[in-house]
Amino acid sequence: MAGSTRLEISSQLGRTAAITGATGGLGYETALALAKAGSEVILTGRDDRKGRSAIEKISREVAGAKVSYNLSIWRALHRSPPSHSGCTPGIPLIS
Ligand SMILES: NC(=O)c1ccc[n+]([C@@H]2O[C@H](COP(=O)([O-])OP(=O)(O)OC[C@H]3O[C@@H](n4cnc5c(N)ncnc54)[C@H](OP(=O)(O)O)[C@@H]3O)[C@@H](O)[C@H]2O)c1
Repeated sequence: MAGSTRLEISSQLGRTAAITGATGGLGYETALALAKAGSEVILTGRDDRKGRSAIEKISREVAGAKVSYNLSIWRALHRSPPSHSGCTPGIPLIS
């Protein structure tokens, strides 16, 4: 489709991504795209209600999605930013 902004990602099966700011906007869309690509996604953010809502939306859209919300990871990332060797900044990929 002309003008499409859909995010396409190669298979992420077997990988786990912790995504900061994943309760809305670009972070949410990134988490959704990674879940669709097969990654387990750990959403982080500062608002538990928005976190639960984001989990529900991704679970509805991606059958069998492995998705969770973890506030403590967000806190840890903000205390000590991870290194991003080989990863897109802001998306630390675990394993
Ligand atoms: N959306 C676009 O089309 C677009 C285009 C070009 C550039 N940008 C830029 O890209 C960035 C992200 O845009 P967006 O639309 O994705 O933003 P957004 O919807 O406002 O926020 C995305 C995520 O970041 C979190 N967040 C926002 N401010 C935060 C803060 N100060 N500390 C911690 N978490 C924070 C939000 O959490 P809460 O829900 O708790 O606020 C949400 O989970 C912005 O700088 C924007 O100017 C966006």
